[in-house]
Amino acid sequence: MTDTPTQRSFVLIKPDAVRRGLVGAVLARFEAKGLRLVTLQLRQVTGEESDQHYAEHVDRPFYPPLRTFITSGPSVALVVEGDEAIEVVRALNGATDGRKAAPGTIRGDLSLSNRENLVHGSDSPESAAREIAFWFPELG
Ligand code: PPS
Repeated sequence: MTDTPTQRSFVLIKPDAVRRGLVGAVLARFEAKGLRLVTLQLRQVTGEESDQHYAEHVDRPFYPPLRTFITSGPSVALVVEGDEAIEVVRALNGATDGRKAAPGTIRGDLSLSNRENLVHGSDSPESAAREIAFWFPELG
């Protein structure tokens, strides 16, 4: 049996989830799966923070409305830890577009949108390292 690596992933529970009172429901899925909370903070994301967090998307046509949305109210930023945490978080989140995400996933059960899709999770070890260092420099 091969050992699976313990990883950390950055998660942003987005303003739609905070507005809809779904923070506890989203966190419960991560915790029930066995991921451990490393840190958690309610944050009002600024435009500059959005530009840095989504640096690879700033020139995409969908970015301006995404920026408006992500700065539209408080979000919850957190880091979780566990075996293969990056892939596990992405599997729990489901496909980007809530309309297409599989039932049983957070987005599949709770979102009907590819913008207001409740939750962001790091998509690779490189982006997890970058995002954790950006949002929680004290963990670096
Ligand atoms: S890609 O092309 O695969 O790199 O992009 P993807 O991972 O699908 O999406 C990256 C983030 O952009 C958001 N997104 C959108 N926002 C607003 N409008 C539209 N049309 C749209 N399409 C994608 C998507 O929710 C992703 O956000 P995060 O926070 O990374 O999940």
